[in-house]
Amino acid sequence: MQQPPPSSFPCSRPGPSRRFCVAPMMDWTDRHYRYFARLISRHALLYTEMVTTGAVLQGDRARFLGYSPQEQPLALQLGGSNAQDLAQCARLAEQAGYAEVNLNVGCPSDRVQNNLIGACLMGHPELVVDGVKAMLDACSIPVTVKHRIGINGRDSYEQLVDFVGQLQEAGCETFIVHARIAILEGLSPKENREVPPLRYEVVQQLKRDFPQLEIILNGGLTDLDMMQQQMDELDGVMVGREAYHNPYLMAEVDRRFYGDPAPVRSRIEVLHALRPYIAAHLAQGGAMHHVTRHILGLFQGLPGARHFRRQLSTEIHRTDQPLALYDRLVSEMTERTQPQDCSL
Ligand SMILES: Cc1cc2nc3c(=O)[nH]c(=O)nc-3n(C[C@H](O)[C@H](O)[C@H](O)COP(=O)(O)O)c2cc1C
Repeated sequence: MQQPPPSSFPCSRPGPSRRFCVAPMMDWTDRHYRYFARLISRHALLYTEMVTTGAVLQGDRARFLGYSPQEQPLALQLGGSNAQDLAQCARLAEQAGYAEVNLNVGCPSDRVQNNLIGACLMGHPELVVDGVKAMLDACSIPVTVKHRIGINGRDSYEQLVDFVGQLQEAGCETFIVHARIAILEGLSPKENREVPPLRYEVVQQLKRDFPQLEIILNGGLTDLDMMQQQMDELDGVMVGREAYHNPYLMAEVDRRFYGDPAPVRSRIEVLHALRPYIAAHLAQGGAMHHVTRHILGLFQGLPGARHFRRQLSTEIHRTDQPLALYDRLVSEMTERTQPQDCSL
């Protein structure tokens, strides 16, 4: 496999290119999803689900830090605010071979707020600064921050500039900005991804005010043309839900955002390439749906998409021959989609 290009953005630490990133998503971007996504795009930078420092330091480390080498380039996202713990986790991330370690300052869930994790940290910039400094001192991979444009009660542009400015002074060079505020009381995490309005212009202004920083735009991006337009002003995009629900969107990413003219796998070729991975997972005692629950949207917009989704979400639980079901489904989808599947 060809090596993905390094970042074209002049950061002081060598790191992966962030022109197209797949967002960290709890329960969604687990290692099985990431393996599948990598079969579609060789260059997209993938992020783990958020892992708390407590889980890494006190939990099953192999479970929380493990991944397949094929998933690279891969960034670990941490949740936490204790500088010592963050430093220790950043060191472990580097040892485990991650290409980047990212701090979550965007998650609005009550559960994490109680532990001073996520978006509530935008109200405590000094904790984020201490944490980022400690992480930078502890490792030599890039340390990045994913945050919102504000939180309720602290949502002015001046406050955002103050937050980013303090982190810049601490040595952080890359900011992934979810272009809406988080409302920390009264909205569920899901509502917090939908209700506060998207304000791309705020992120664009941030880039104009901090041209030397790498600024990646996140939030509501669904269309590759729109993403490419944003890149006229910004350094990259991070895509969450669309990359999960419509994963074949990533088939065009290598050519469009990385200038790689290599042929892309068709959807059917992706399914064939995934089969040995599923077989290995089954051989280790895993269940097929652990992997295939992430691929339900592969045929979105094509004939047979519903059949594919239904077979993998219901029939799969009624069979004791999961691979036989998979093989039959691949044959059926090959027949149904062959002419259309050649085009993106
Ligand atoms: C199911 C789900 C889980 C998420 N988990 C995380 C997480 O662990 N860490 C994080 O920083 N953001 C998390 N997010 C937020 C996404 O990373 C992203 O910021 C958000 O979905 C907006 O991007 P999008 O509109 O492209 O989906 C999650 C989003 C979803 C839908």
